[in-house]
Amino acid sequence: MMTVDYAYKTKDDNCIACHNPRGAADKKPVSGGHKMGKIEAHDKYKYLTQKDGEYYIYCSTCHTVHNNGPKKGDEGTIQNSFLDKKITAVNGNFCAGCHEDQKTLTTSPHNVQKFEKNTDKVAKLKAANDTCGACHEVHGDGGYYLFSKSYGKDFEKICSSCHNTDGIASKTAITSSHKMNVKPKKEMNIYLQDGNIVCATCHEPHGPEKGMLRDMGEKNICFACHSDQKLVDMTKHNLSRLDYLSDKDKKKAAANVCYACHTPHNFHKENRLMWAYKQDGKTPFSFEMCTDCHKADGVGFKKVPEKTTHDRIFKIFPYREKFKENLFDDSGKVSAEGSITCQSCHNPHVWKAGTIEASATVEGDISNSFLKKDVKDKFCSVCHGETNAKNLFEKYHDKKFRDNRSQLNRKMLEAEVLKNLFEIQHNLEKIEGQK
Ligand code: HEC
Ligand code: HEC
Ligand code: HEC
Ligand code: HEC
Ligand code: HEC
Ligand code: HEC
Ligand code: HEC
Ligand code: HEC
Ligand code: HEC
Ligand code: HEC
Ligand code: HEC
Repeated sequence: MMTVDYAYKTKDDNCIACHNPRGAADKKPVSGGHKMGKIEAHDKYKYLTQKDGEYYIYCSTCHTVHNNGPKKGDEGTIQNSFLDKKITAVNGNFCAGCHEDQKTLTTSPHNVQKFEKNTDKVAKLKAANDTCGACHEVHGDGGYYLFSKSYGKDFEKICSSCHNTDGIASKTAITSSHKMNVKPKKEMNIYLQDGNIVCATCHEPHGPEKGMLRDMGEKNICFACHSDQKLVDMTKHNLSRLDYLSDKDKKKAAANVCYACHTPHNFHKENRLMWAYKQDGKTPFSFEMCTDCHKADGVGFKKVPEKTTHDRIFKIFPYREKFKENLFDDSGKVSAEGSITCQSCHNPHVWKAGTIEASATVEGDISNSFLKKDVKDKFCSVCHGETNAKNLFEKYHDKKFRDNRSQLNRKMLEAEVLKNLFEIQHNLEKIEGQK
């Protein structure tokens, strides 16, 4: 006799015969939801149903049908919907019985028992101790990772369904974030969605630690992708290394050296570069990115250069495209239409170009001071000639030097520049002619 029990062990068992909108269990229809059927990568999982050397999930892999049901008239929960108690017993959580990797959720801020806001849904989940159910619906509408289908594959929607100003996680509402849906510059073994960075790239939603950040093999998660900026750690721009600053400033940088200038979330929407300061809307950002600190009442008060600007003369410069790496627009972006800004000469992440010298206690001079390489020889001298360029570059912030200079006849100087331009043109033509 073919027992009912045997029939249960096929893909949809016989359960759907009743658990459909027209069946005997029409109030409890089951359609989409948790993965069913054959499991290829079965090594990770216990409790799968074995048949002919293959591994499957059937309804009856999770459900026992005759044991552990709800009391008559009660709604079943994750504790008692005819579920296999053996699986729950392993880690004290039915789902984590198979999903060992996610058992860390118990001590995570994402454990529903720790949620402060008690909505109806949260109260119900707490009562049933249904920690996974806060996000995953085992018999839901078959959405991405068992989330509601209405979110699609969009993590910003999935996460912000709680992390918004009215949501369950309003205390940690997220209004802006690090660039999303961009590809890392190198091949990495991390969580990506179609190759792109999403919320779950940096966050392990089941993670136990504060911040729930993924381990990317670096002491600072930002280093993992931004090796060019990592050197800032050993410089004065690591504010945690400057004894004279307030504990508040030092603590922020000690948590993460980048936070002094870039904040991963909730910067003003119009801010570029995840800028940690509120922008005043008057100073161009290309200057504000330094003067937010390098001003009398900023944390960089010890070093406020007196003279910082260069004439915006580039409209007469015919080689803007060629030298655009040295030119920046008001928003701080490289631009052939731009001018000389702080970024033309300085890279705030690298103390001494080409070396990894530590510098937190070194007084800066023209050989370091976050200066870029070759700016003087390959750029300033184009217009100013070699000898002048050296002086103009090295004494760029020197008020006395510059004040004295401006006594001279500017017309003459401009003529000199134009003369140089003529020479450069001549040189460039010569070089190009040889090719
Ligand atoms: C002969 C019809 C029939 C079959 C076959 C059947 N069920 Fe049911 N099942 C019911 C009915 C009727 C209820 C009570 C529904 C209600 O509470 O409205 C029920 C209740 C349940 C409940 C409890 C729901 C709750 O939380 O209150 C679970 C879980 C369940 N069935 C699982 C299964 C599984 C798994 C199978 C297949 C292995 C299965 N059933 C096969 C008819 C059936
Ligand atoms: C991965 C494990 C797993 C599999 C596979 C599974 N279920 Fe469930 N099922 C659960 C859990 C857990 C619950 C309790 C959910 C809750 O109450 O929050 C549940 C609840 C139910 C309920 C009650 C739903 C309700 O609305 O109260 C029914 C009916 C049910 N399952 C039927 C099925 C059927 C039919 C299948 C096969 C098609 C199946 N289940 C496969 C884990 C599973
Ligand atoms: C009997 C073991 C078992 C139980 C119990 C179980 N799962 Fe799974 N789960 C699996 C397997 C196996 C897979 C598929 C893995 C694969 O395909 O590589 C899976 C896949 C998943 C996925 C990934 C889905 C996707 O679309 O990629 C999620 C999310 C998930 N389970 C959540 C849960 C939740 C929540 C529960 C508890 C309600 C649960 N699981 C209970 C075995 C189980
Ligand atoms: C706060 C929401 C949230 C809660 C609570 C939650 N998850 Fe998840 N889970 C996610 C998100 C988001 C993903 C997709 C990103 C990822 O894989 O990390 C996911 C992915 C998964 C996956 C697929 C992992 C993979 O590598 O393919 C499994 C399995 C899973 N969760 C199981 C669980 C279990 C078991 C619980 C309860 C112990 C749980 N989740 C609780 C949000 C949550
Ligand atoms: C590039 C990495 C990265 C990405 C992408 C990212 N985050 Fe974060 N997130 C962080 C870091 C770093 C922190 C700070 C953690 C700490 O220091 O405690 C953080 C903190 C948070 C916090 C806690 C905020 C608080 O006030 O304590 C939440 C919530 C959060 N992120 C949600 C999200 C959401 C939602 C997304 C996607 C829209 C996302 N994150 C994308 C890196 C990232
Ligand atoms: C079901 C609601 C819910 C969903 C969905 C959710 N979170 Fe949370 N999350 C919370 C709650 C509640 C807290 C605790 C802090 C609070 O109450 O604001 C929290 C805290 C966090 C924290 C801060 C942990 C700490 O250090 O205190 C991070 C980071 C975070 N979530 C990231 C995410 C990311 C990324 C996603 C999407 C993958 C996500 N969350 C989806 C509810 C949720
Ligand atoms: C998984 C890799 C990854 C991690 C981790 C990461 N980033 Fe990024 N970051 C990127 C990519 C990719 C871009 C986009 C580059 C582009 O658009 O050219 C980017 C862009 C940026 C930008 C420029 C944003 C803009 O508006 O142009 C800043 C600043 C930044 N990241 C800072 C950080 C900080 C601070 C952290 C640590 C909290 C961090 N990143 C962690 C990959 C990452
Ligand atoms: C003292 C302030 C400061 C600190 C600390 C700092 N940055 Fe920056 N960062 C800036 C400024 C100013 C810019 C814009 C000028 C530039 O691109 O050099 C910038 C630009 C960037 C860019 C965009 C570069 C590009 O080419 O578009 C990335 C990425 C970045 N920073 C990442 C980081 C990371 C990661 C950390 C921590 C390891 C960090 N920064 C620490 C001030 C800082
Ligand atoms: C978060 C605040 C902050 C930002 C933003 C910032 N700095 Fe600084 N910077 C400092 C502090 C603090 C020092 C240490 C001053 C000291 O003790 O010598 C410093 C030191 C320096 C020094 C070395 C001084 C010396 O001679 O030893 C230079 C050069 C410098 N900054 C240039 C810049 C430039 C250029 C930018 C913009 C691209 C910038 N900084 C953005 C805070 C900042
Ligand atoms: C033309 C190149 C150039 C430009 C543009 C430039 N700097 Fe400098 N900066 C230098 C040089 C060279 C030094 C090293 C001078 C020394 O220490 O003798 C320096 C030193 C500094 C110092 C340390 C000063 C001290 O007292 O020790 C700070 C702070 C600084 N620059 C900030 C800035 C800011 C902010 C901007 C943009 C508003 C900027 N610089 C634009 C070339 C430049
Ligand atoms: C496109 C040609 C051009 C380039 C390239 C150029 N300058 Fe100039 N610079 C000028 C002109 C024209 C003036 C105005 C005439 C004058 O004061 O010499 C000027 C003026 C100056 C002044 C005096 C400004 C004042 O207000 O006193 C300094 C200092 C200076 N340049 C430094 C530099 C440095 C350093 C570089 C390289 C980062 C550089 N310039 C690149 C054309 C250029």
